[in-house]
Amino acid sequence: MNENVTQRGLFISFEGIDGSGKSTQVTRLAQHLRASGHDVVLTREPGGSAGAEEIRALVLQGDPDRWSAETEILLFTAARRDHLERLIRPALAEGKIVICDRFADSTRMYQGLSRGDLRADVDQLHDLMIGVEPDLTILIDMDPAEGLKRAKGRQGTEERFEDFGASLQEAMRAGFLALSKEFSDRFRVIDGSQNMDKVAADIYAVTDKALGENN
Ligand code: TYD
Repeated sequence: MNENVTQRGLFISFEGIDGSGKSTQVTRLAQHLRASGHDVVLTREPGGSAGAEEIRALVLQGDPDRWSAETEILLFTAARRDHLERLIRPALAEGKIVICDRFADSTRMYQGLSRGDLRADVDQLHDLMIGVEPDLTILIDMDPAEGLKRAKGRQGTEERFEDFGASLQEAMRAGFLALSKEFSDRFRVIDGSQNMDKVAADIYAVTDKALGENN
């Protein structure tokens, strides 16, 4: 973990396949940290700033073939850049904890993996335009069959990536687990098949450790 996290806030991202229970856990962690007196900013990608929320509607709604994978990389990265400039960097500079539901690892997986191998393009654009990684990334690992059932049950308007099907979700799971090894300094893998309270407790434990609050 970053040495100076306490001076400049802590940047935590959550990752996982669709339906991994991320959104619930993100909210619970924010409550947990606020209860122990932290100033927490809860946000999400794509979105999190006014401009990025506009891009969110462009990328998540409409025809699944609306954009090529390359165009999507540009759109998600544009949204991320705005989010970083307007919300994430200022909050960290004020010493706050930023919890972000998805960040660049999602682009590495969804755009980098789902329609051919575009990981190198994602990484190049990331280096050029974003250039930061979270201090801590919590991966909620989950059986895709279970995750897909949950995701499809939601029936929203933002379904473009949720129709991927079981085999691609399986590849995504493996991809996220591989990322957790590639970036093992910041990734912590949580078993999402446990009951929600146990998942939350595991997340509190790794977060408190990152904050130096468990000893
Ligand atoms: P999200 O609202 O987090 O959905 P979920 O609760 O199912 O995780 O994310 C919306 C979708 O956007 C999700 O299917 C993943 C996709 N996505 C990308 O394809 N690339 C990205 O860079 C990000 C951040 C999200």
